[in-house]
Amino acid sequence: MGYREVYEGWKSDPEGFWMAQADAIDWDRKPSHAYFDQGPVGEWFADGMVNTCWNAVDRHVAAGRGDQIAIMHESPITLSTKGITFRQLQDRVASLAGALRAKGIKKGDRVIIYMPMIPEALEAMLACARLGAVHSVVFGGFAANELAVRIDDCQPKAIIAASCGLEPNRVVHYKPLLDAAIDQARHKPDFCVIFQREQEVAQLVEGRDVSWHGFQYGVTPADCVPVEGNHPAYILYTSGTTGQPKGVVRDTAGHLVALQWSMNNIYNIHEGDRFWAASDVGWVVGHSYICYGPLIAGATTVVFEGKPVGTPHAGVFWRIIQNHRIKSFFTAPTALRAIRREDPTGEWIRRYKLHDLQALFLAGERADPETVKWAQNHLGILVIDHWWQTETGWAIAANPIGVETLPTKLGSPSVPMPGHDVQIFDDEGHPLPDGTLGAIAIKLPLPPGTLPTLWNAEDRFRKSYLDHFPGYYETGDAGYIDEDGYLYIMARTDDVINVAGHRLSTGAMEEVLSSHPDVAECAVIGVADSLKGQSPIGFLCLKSGVNTPHDQVVKDVVNMVRDKIGPVAAFKTACVVDRLPKTRSGKILRATMAKIADGEAFKTPATIEDPVVLDEITVALKSIGYPQT
Ligand code: COA
Ligand code: AMP
Repeated sequence: MGYREVYEGWKSDPEGFWMAQADAIDWDRKPSHAYFDQGPVGEWFADGMVNTCWNAVDRHVAAGRGDQIAIMHESPITLSTKGITFRQLQDRVASLAGALRAKGIKKGDRVIIYMPMIPEALEAMLACARLGAVHSVVFGGFAANELAVRIDDCQPKAIIAASCGLEPNRVVHYKPLLDAAIDQARHKPDFCVIFQREQEVAQLVEGRDVSWHGFQYGVTPADCVPVEGNHPAYILYTSGTTGQPKGVVRDTAGHLVALQWSMNNIYNIHEGDRFWAASDVGWVVGHSYICYGPLIAGATTVVFEGKPVGTPHAGVFWRIIQNHRIKSFFTAPTALRAIRREDPTGEWIRRYKLHDLQALFLAGERADPETVKWAQNHLGILVIDHWWQTETGWAIAANPIGVETLPTKLGSPSVPMPGHDVQIFDDEGHPLPDGTLGAIAIKLPLPPGTLPTLWNAEDRFRKSYLDHFPGYYETGDAGYIDEDGYLYIMARTDDVINVAGHRLSTGAMEEVLSSHPDVAECAVIGVADSLKGQSPIGFLCLKSGVNTPHDQVVKDVVNMVRDKIGPVAAFKTACVVDRLPKTRSGKILRATMAKIADGEAFKTPATIEDPVVLDEITVALKSIGYPQT
């Protein structure tokens, strides 16, 4: 069957399609049917009983593949390589789960995981899944305040953290960040488990902290606890339009079925294959395709602690792909741009034997055609852009090479995957013809594996995603569909920007800027960046009578964003202006400002309050080096 037949097969019988896919999962009790019309957008396999850890680990041991490597850890920063078999993983996870259970963790309890790219991060996720506890992984590049916000929102009974993370230029001191976050948060966890790394041994807080190894001593390993299909597997926070992140909920059974399907049919990965997604467990790519997807499919996954360049060189990806005979590789376009900048002629690529590599998958941001062409030329394999979001958990659009390799089109993530009926609408919700740019929406219900709601925020869920186009999920992306049914993703329709494949909220940055005592008003926009895709810049209007030198205020706000949101925001540039350009109704014209900063042609909006302000913005941008070309 080709793509067209598979897609039409789903469309004509979604229930039959998803029940057939559910056969690839081990159930404690099979679901009576696939779709349940309950909750804000429906639920999948709700009356089945199942365990994620069993499907990701134990079933492979039971099937005789216990000696296969499950997790390969590669750290060019600590110069170490280590493999963990499925049997070892089962023992380690059962022991950790047993220790968590002995400390009172049970089904439904929340556990925050704050760890760098070490196998123990995956073990912590799987141990929660084993008990039916709901994990929420927080990315290491966030500041203490962001961790505190998540602690208050999901109210974890425990936090599992490492003593430190390792960036190429510095040690990230996780423990002081964790302690500060717990101090700031209103909710306090019962206990914290600290994994002490060789590079930094953290001070434990008596009565609250236990050490990873110590608290597992002498415990009875835990078996897998079956949970209902609609039991939440995890919460993952992502940026929205405000400083309060959205807690995307992922249900257990839909997640299992969707990831198994996607591993086999999109990535062409099956039992015994080797797969690598070079992302971080703090992002959705890390959840779906470093941890759960490959393991559920019985494949080897790679946990990589390093960067595409500088750890130690621009050939590190290709070395790992060669040494571990990776079949499908997944990274963000920004990582390829970083490599291409250092290795424009593909010198490093030619030094390694990449015979096993069949495809390179790109996602997280728009894959610019120049980067895709560079990769195609030098790797000589399929380069596949695919489009998805934290909310969807797996690809909305892709080239499903496990089903059929479709012709690729530069600039397009190809075609909708089964379960996704993708439409392009104008602002009033009228369908637009092929080739016309509009808001991208997906007809409800969304497929298994996508979000059923936001944690503790059903109203926000409806307002953010469902109210604008009734009967559809609003993706927040704008784009078009061509005459062959290929999608093109062009921009966000909201205040979310994408910096080095990291999703960030300009609204959250504005909240930080406006908390500076001298700032009366501000705006943050995303401008084009040749490496990171976009980077944020801020505009500050100061209160009257302020005498602080402008460069001091700029320095202050740069430090404040780093302290409050974290280094990952990469907020480094701001300028002081007298006024911000606004419409007569008071809306700041951020899109027009971004066009000026990017040196693009723009039309002065008819509703502008005072067109002269755009000239002032142009001058201010020039003073900080924009447009860059
Ligand atoms: N823990 C702590 N800090 C982190 C971090 C982590 N896990 N990840 C990034 N940071 C820090 C970096 O150290 C940097 O800090 P600095 O300002 O002190 O230098 C800051 O956050 C910005 O990081 P980043 O945007 O990653 O920029 P970079 O200059 O360090 O690296 C690239 C640039 C392109 C090499 C890098 O961004 C990259 O590999 N991107 C791929 C991203 C990716 O895979 N995204 C997942 C989406 S699928
Ligand atoms: P995240 O939730 O962090 O995965 O970010 C999701 C957002 O990243 C999407 O809504 C898009 O704006 C953007 N994005 C992800 N993949 C792609 C892609 N292949 N092409 C264009 N934009 C993408």
